[in-house]
Amino acid sequence: MDNRALQVSAIKEGTVIDHIPAERLFDVINILGLFNSLEMITFGTNLDSKQLGKKGIIKVANRFFQGEEIDKIALIAPHAKLNIIKDYEVIEKRVVETPSEIVSIVKCFNPKCITNHEKIKTRFSVVSNKPIELKCRYCEKITYENQIEIV
Ligand code: CTP
Ligand code: ZN
Repeated sequence: MDNRALQVSAIKEGTVIDHIPAERLFDVINILGLFNSLEMITFGTNLDSKQLGKKGIIKVANRFFQGEEIDKIALIAPHAKLNIIKDYEVIEKRVVETPSEIVSIVKCFNPKCITNHEKIKTRFSVVSNKPIELKCRYCEKITYENQIEIV
């Protein structure tokens, strides 16, 4: 980043989810249920990134994400970094890890899959991490990272 100014203001306390693929920003907001949050949230997208070309970033005051929430982030933004901020300082940086099994959350990409026709939870095993490949437990078809749609 150039050193003139932050593109999105610094926060005092909370979590900065950085290095989100630009086109996935709103999926991350959605999956974390941030629409309902009463905390201060700032975000930006299509920001310049050396790694991703363009990236998204979300800053949530006073929130520290846990297990399943981090799994969800990993699913749509496997290169995301979680920066834990206390008193304006980054006190911890966490990389996200994709879980080995995904229940619900994602739609099966196979239009013929039973999960797209009946009211049952989707279920996938994660056969690859980066890029993500999810194998459906019902139809055995693979849903690739760029095909991931949130239920
Ligand atoms: N940040 C913030 N508020 C703070 C401190 C940091 O919003 N009080 C943000 C920064 O803008 C940056 C992220 O948290 O987007 C990580 O901060 P830092 O580790 O200082 O930046 P980089 O070294 O660029 O991070 P990276 O590891 O991603 O290269
Ligand atoms: Zn399926």
